[in-house]
Amino acid sequence: MAKLDKNFLWGGALAANQFEGGYDQGGKGLSVHDVMTAGEHGKAREITETIEDDKFYPNHDGIDFYNRYKEDIALFGEMGLKCLRTSIAWTRIFPNGDEAEPNEEGLQFYDNIIDELLKYNIEPVLTLSHFEMPLHLAREYGGFRNRKVVDYFVRFAETVFNRYKDKVKYWMTFNEINNQMDTSNPIFLWTNSGVTLAKDEDPEEVLYQVAHNELIASALAVSKGKEINPDFIIGNMISHVPIYPYSCNPNDIMEAEIANRLRFFFPDVQVRGYYPGYALKMFEKNGYDIKWQEGDDEILKNGTVEYIAFSYYMSTVVKHDEVTSVEDNVVNGGLPNSVKNPYIKESQWGWAIDPVGLRYTLNVLYNRYQLPLFIVENGFGTTDEFKEDGTIDDQERIDYLREHIKASIQAVDEDGVDLMGYTPWGIIDIVSFTTGEMKKRYGLIHVDRDNEGNGTLKRTKKNSFYWFNNVIKTNGEEL
Ligand code: BG6
Repeated sequence: MAKLDKNFLWGGALAANQFEGGYDQGGKGLSVHDVMTAGEHGKAREITETIEDDKFYPNHDGIDFYNRYKEDIALFGEMGLKCLRTSIAWTRIFPNGDEAEPNEEGLQFYDNIIDELLKYNIEPVLTLSHFEMPLHLAREYGGFRNRKVVDYFVRFAETVFNRYKDKVKYWMTFNEINNQMDTSNPIFLWTNSGVTLAKDEDPEEVLYQVAHNELIASALAVSKGKEINPDFIIGNMISHVPIYPYSCNPNDIMEAEIANRLRFFFPDVQVRGYYPGYALKMFEKNGYDIKWQEGDDEILKNGTVEYIAFSYYMSTVVKHDEVTSVEDNVVNGGLPNSVKNPYIKESQWGWAIDPVGLRYTLNVLYNRYQLPLFIVENGFGTTDEFKEDGTIDDQERIDYLREHIKASIQAVDEDGVDLMGYTPWGIIDIVSFTTGEMKKRYGLIHVDRDNEGNGTLKRTKKNSFYWFNNVIKTNGEEL
């Protein structure tokens, strides 16, 4: 008997702001990403006030999917993808976010994309907001600090749900809604929620107010979506970087238990429909005054999600009584007491490579929530070299994906986890989110573009392209 269901959703994952380009085409407005410069490993991206002529903004052009989508989707078809997870750029539909009417050209663009995908029998899986917010809502309204932005988000969600209701079944609300828990790097609050912090503010209190508004926005979107089409399947999307205790010292165990609340806070609310006790206690102890409106309890209860989509790239470790510099640990979620795992190697960008951690994550999430799970991001960001014969032998990427797929199959076949699908991140090379680089490549298809924006944009299939095609064909039997 096959280990995976015959309808297992093998696919690829992308995000509008990182690959579409066309930042000023088709009536699109500026998004929070359009004012982010390129950084590199160890050098943060800058968020500029306006677009400055002497700075480079890699997301403006992405990989020019906007103008090349037919060629790219044909390649996805050839790879055998059964689904494509991508996002809708909010700024194509409501360029400033607060308009009464949507931008028809933007809606038409996604009609074209969805139709093209369906032509190749590729199921569209859409994220409503993948780190995407109109710049105007961030600057003029303070992003999700402001409850009005909840209404604008729901209007956007309703518009796209209505428009694509007969073509799209799988949706998720906010990408990696929980990665903004790491307030040590300003880009996370900015890209998730359009929020910048004033000097005298308590980042944590701001974060939980923003989180509340966003949780309400997510729940309202789920309820609206189910009203518009009861057959929609709507999930949340979280980043899961499991936090291991350093040792069996009970203090390390408790340290990890508490630290993992950073990972679980958002899904606890989105799945259960109410706040967990540890969060309410923490608000009380810290004197946080999180503003709720009448009816919020009901909204959260009625808007719970039906599946959990998550990204998994790495794991991390915490040690009781260890104080490390937050800057050193940005990769590990800014945890002030995270330490290196002596059993695990890291990528060039310092991301721990831990396939067993994926099996562990699948078990932890399934046992905690008992909902279907969907791995919508997993992958290996690294540089690629062309061989003399013009091919790219990306064995390291194949090995990474193989080991993570094996671990996922074990979770299904041995642990009984309900897993809907697997979509490797950046199925085609795109702009890196954290660094804005092109050379941190995840793709199974190479794109000729460098960190400074030079290159022909030519697409080349890597060895992993053919390997993954066979994985899909054999439904994971041949890895
Ligand atoms: C996730 C995001 O955090 O990780 C993606 O949802 C991102 O947008 C991916 O690209 C990989 O991160 P990076 O920084 O290597 O591109």
